[in-house]
Formats: sequence, structure tokens, C-alpha cells
Amino acid sequence: MDGNIEEAKSKSILVTGGAGYIGSHTTLQLLLGGYRVAVIDNLDNSCEEAIQRVAQLAGKYGGNLTFHQADLRDKEALEKVFSVEKFDAVIHFAGLKAVGESVAKPLLYYNNNIVGTLNLLEVMIAHDCKKLVFSSSATVYGQPKEVPCTEDFPLCAVNPYGRTKLFIEEICCDAQRADPEWKIMLLRYFNPVGAHPSGIIGEDPRGIPNNLMPFVQQVAVGRRPELTVFGTDYKTKDGTGVRDYIHVMDLSDGHIAALSKLFETNDIGCEVYNLGSGRGTSVLEMVAAFEKASGKKIPLKFVDRRPGDSETVYASTEKAEKELNWKAQYGIEKMCRDQWNWSEKNPWGYRSPETTD
Ligand code: NAD
Ligand code: UFG
Repeated sequence: MDGNIEEAKSKSILVTGGAGYIGSHTTLQLLLGGYRVAVIDNLDNSCEEAIQRVAQLAGKYGGNLTFHQADLRDKEALEKVFSVEKFDAVIHFAGLKAVGESVAKPLLYYNNNIVGTLNLLEVMIAHDCKKLVFSSSATVYGQPKEVPCTEDFPLCAVNPYGRTKLFIEEICCDAQRADPEWKIMLLRYFNPVGAHPSGIIGEDPRGIPNNLMPFVQQVAVGRRPELTVFGTDYKTKDGTGVRDYIHVMDLSDGHIAALSKLFETNDIGCEVYNLGSGRGTSVLEMVAAFEKASGKKIPLKFVDRRPGDSETVYASTEKAEKELNWKAQYGIEKMCRDQWNWSEKNPWGYRSPETTD
């Protein structure tokens, strides 16, 4: 570990979207691993408090973190960030991610996610920084015909959000084909949940949560009366949808593994890895685990399937295990314990009832 820290000390990483849920946890792990980190975020779906808490949790490494409030679509602002510091690699989390909103506002999604990424890639080239880790998603498997999903499955997108991920994957691969100096890791996340075990940082979505666990969390702390369960007639163990939940700390460590591989290996082109646990869990199993962890009853309302939802999605983790030497450690009990710890300590996330929408 000390050897790794020594090596990381000389490296500087730009993290886009580092104030957000996955970005804040990964930024912390990078700092603790000895990297210097600059975060760029427009705070569209996050707040600066998250950055301050990351610095606090990082202790003696907290001084290695800098924050730039800027939008990736503002190329001049990006240029400015790159002109004050030389980066060895970029981890690119910044993007909009709400599926329903992407259907209602597709141009906003294409503009934010794709134009933002194009600007980033262009500025990276201009500053000769050609190592990138990109946040893709299991959404690129669409509704998979079989599971577990392996990285070579056919890809498709079923909504504008998914299309931005698919397009960006292809843009990255094209850029790398045209210029083999690029080294790119496309990481397809499954369902990140949980929080840092301290309960000091966690997920704090704006508005009504789209995803299962943030919703469950808000029911548990009394912000919402009940959880709506979408679909009870899937051909699964209990009729509810099955997903691959992965602890956000495991996911963060997956990024460190991908980054190490980028630095250590010469013949990386544009590589894709699933980051999941490899296990399928139903909605009702997840709710039961959260009830056990929190001691709170989650009232349920059963309704029809949510349009566009898949029945069962989980990852094949073989490639990441073999090539990144990374494997998720935590099960759903720990995910729920840490999620509850965060929500009990921060029922309104980073904000207060007055400032929460
Ligand atoms: P998040 O919304 O918490 O974090 C994204 C951050 O990016 C936010 O802090 C937001 O303010 C920032 N941002 C958005 N657009 C920006 C722009 N144009 N310029 C600068 N900053 C901008 O989301 P997250 O859950 O941490 O997700 C991170 C990434 O992982 C996203 O790209 C998301 O699509 C992807 N992903 C997330 C999930 C999930 O379930 N959470 C699953 C698969 C993939
Ligand atoms: N669910 C409910 N009630 C809710 C929310 C969700 O029953 O209030 C169910 C869904 O029907 C699904 C499961 O809980 O069966 C998980 O749903 P999420 O919305 O949390 O996650 P999804 O797998 O549907 O989708 C998420 C992101 C996608 C991303 C995918 C994989 O929203 O963008 O994870 O990363 F592609």
C-alpha cells in the first residue's frame, strides 16, 4: 500500500462530476490512495458541502483536493482548469442521469452529456492528457435476453439517457482508433447503492428520487409515505424486478483499479468493464434487507410495471476480476446498513427541509 501511495503521489487526476454521488466517494478513495485530485462540477445535481466533507474525511490528504465550479459545456472554463494544472488522467462522471427527464428533455441530455464530453476530450487532447475513465452504465445492454451480461453482449439504448452513454462509448472508441495514444476505460456500472461507512457522505438526489434505494431511504426517514413497487408479475423469485446492486465503496475502488491499470499497462486501447457484484436481488429482497438494517417498516404500494424496465439484469464480473484484479466485497446487508447510517445522520442529505426541493 505504501508503495502504491508513493507512486500515486506524483499523479494528478481530474474528476468531473466529483461533487456527485459516485464522484464524491471515488474522490475520497483517490485522495486516501495518495493521488492529487481536482474536481470540476457545475453543482447542477450536487452541492459544495459534499466536497468539504470529502476533504474532512481525507484527513491529512484533504489538502490535495481542489474544486472548480464550472460546466463542461463551457470550454473556456475547462481550458482554464487545464492551464493551471497538468493532469495525468481524467475520471469523467459528470452527466445528467434521470431516465424519465431524458425522455421529456432529450436535447438537454444530448447537449449536457455529449457536448460536455466532446469539450472535455478536445481540451484533454490540447493538453496532451490522453488517459480517461468514463462512467458508462448497464443501461447500454437495453433489455438483455439473458444474464449475466458480459461485455460483448449486443448493445442498444431504450431512452435518450441510454443513448448518450452508448454514443459516448462509441465516440471514445473512435477517438482512440484515430489516435492510439489514447488509453480509455469504459466502466459499465450496475446499480450503485450505499454510502461511506462514516455516514458523512452519501447520495442526495434532487427532487423525487428515480431509483429504488434513495426512495426507500426517504420513506424510512419520513419524507415520503410509501414505496411504490413497480411490477409484481415478473418471472422472478417473488415477481419483482431483479438488479445487481453494488456498494458505492466497491464501485469507487473499481475506479482506482481501472486507473492503476491505465498507468501500469501499455497496450490498452479502449477497454470496457462491467462493475457489478454479479448477484441478482429483487426489489422485495432489497426492501427486506433495508428494513432489517434500519429497524423501520417500509410501507409498500404495488402498481403496474414501470415502462421500459427490464425483468432481470446482473453483471458478469469475470473480466473485471481477471483484468482489473478487482471484485466487489460487500453484500446487500452492508449496503443497506451504510445507506441507513447516512440517511439517519442526514435525513435531508446535505441540505435542510427549507433548502430541499
Ligand atoms: P450525480 O448526479 O450524483 O453526479 C453527477 C455530477 O455531475 C453532479 O454533481 C452534477 O452536478 C455534475 N454535472 C452534471 N452535468 C455537468 C456538467 N455539464 N458540467 C459539470 N458538472 C456536471 O450522479 P452519479 O450517480 O454520481 O453518477 C455519476 C455518473 O455515473 C453519471 O455519468 C451517471 O450517468 C453514471 N451512472 C450512474 C448510475 C447510478 O445509478 N447512480 C448508474 C450507471 C451510470
Ligand atoms: N423500483 C421500484 N420502485 C421505485 C424505484 C424502482 O419498484 O420507486 C424498482 C424498479 O422497477 C427496478 C428496481 O427497483 O425493478 C431498480 O430500479 P432503479 O430505478 O433503482 O434502477 P434501474 O436498474 O431500473 O436503472 C438504474 C438507472 C439506469 C441505469 C441502471 C443500471 O436508473 O439509468 O440503473 O446502471 F442504466
